[in-house]
Amino acid sequence: MDEFSWNDKYSIGNDQIDDEHHRLLELANEVAAFANSGEKLERIKVAIVALYEYVKTHFQHEEEYMIQLAYPQYEEHKKLHEEIIAGMNDIMKHSGNLDALVYKFKRLMNSWVLEHILTEDSRIASAKKPEEAAD
Ligand SMILES: [Fe+2]
Repeated sequence: MDEFSWNDKYSIGNDQIDDEHHRLLELANEVAAFANSGEKLERIKVAIVALYEYVKTHFQHEEEYMIQLAYPQYEEHKKLHEEIIAGMNDIMKHSGNLDALVYKFKRLMNSWVLEHILTEDSRIASAKKPEEAAD
């Protein structure tokens, strides 16, 4: 079973963003699967880098979407993205051993990424509705 599974409560009602969140969880599951099957540290790091690159692109898309919506908490939200990116950088730089890397990675995914989608990204969804209704 997947470590990080998609749940409809993650949907923010924008197909592109939802699809990207979906893909993000798939990439995180690839990392978890490598870790669980005892792959080497270097192989797991490669998978984390793939996720990291995807997250950076995704955050850019989300930021463009917020600009489109004239989302009032844009700056705060962007700052949270920067913190997650910094957290991922930190994991890659400072995790010389496998257990520490996997532990930190799972903690980051659960407490930052999933929590971020549920709380912060969902707020973008509530900002969106009146805008689209006005179109
Ligand atoms: Fe976000």
